[in-house]
Amino acid sequence: MTDHILIERRDAVQVIRMNRPDKKNALTRAMYGKMSEALAAGDADPAVRVHVFLGVPGAFSAGNDLTDFLAVATGGEGGSEVWEFLLALARSQKPMVSGVDGIAVGIGTTLNLHCDLTFATPRTLFRTPFVDLGLVPEAGSSLLVPQVLGRQGAFALLALGEGLSAEQARAAGLIHQVVEEGGLEAAVLAAAARIAAKPPQALRIARDLMRGPREPLLARIEEETALFRERLKSDEARAALMAFMERKK
Ligand code: COA
Repeated sequence: MTDHILIERRDAVQVIRMNRPDKKNALTRAMYGKMSEALAAGDADPAVRVHVFLGVPGAFSAGNDLTDFLAVATGGEGGSEVWEFLLALARSQKPMVSGVDGIAVGIGTTLNLHCDLTFATPRTLFRTPFVDLGLVPEAGSSLLVPQVLGRQGAFALLALGEGLSAEQARAAGLIHQVVEEGGLEAAVLAAAARIAAKPPQALRIARDLMRGPREPLLARIEEETALFRERLKSDEARAALMAFMERKK
């Protein structure tokens, strides 16, 4: 597992790269754990000024590893890594920039709601099939998405599971910019370098003002997580997860 999350420093920029291409960057508990550690370490290190999230070509992330979900759905222990990562995103002290190419499902979409700038390629499709899986929205998305897309746009994305192309996401204000595949990482790293060059204290205050109080977001993440955990043990979720596992047989 060790290489499924790669942490790299480029001057004052910490790059957190999801790197499990054979599973389209489906996230395991260990991967969440490593990303939470990186956020905490970067926030604590004055030499780090920006966090960057990247995936692999064609896959930002296919969302939570459904094998892990199925384990919980069939009576196993879930652990706290996902929950801790969601809190780490909501609490992060430093700007976060993401570069999304291709698959962006579930947390692969909702992670970006916490980022200050997201760049995505034209072939990107943002999708959150929570309800189809018998689950509910997570990562504060039930609070954050309606703020950007309005109630009906949020319903289409989070309840109907309709996808949003990169261009639709940009037009709706969900992401910052659409860039061609070949230029994605350069655009992300250039933006991160610009952020890193700003006076950090003024930037932090400005960012905190724009994000507003964290308590409502943290409370919503807690509420969603409790419901999500209940839903994972539901017949609806178990059936949907087993159908995913069986689909290639
Ligand atoms: N959890 C576990 N494994 C996953 C996964 C996930 N979320 N997403 C993809 N994989 C695995 C596939 O099982 C497959 O493994 P295999 O090669 O051992 O059979 C491998 O990754 C490649 O996926 P595949 O489905 O063949 O690629 P694709 O390009 O045809 O489709 C997706 C990609 C993302 C559209 C499709 O895999 C998918 O729908 N995944 C589930 C997404 C999801 O519902 N996430 C949870 C949201 S809450």
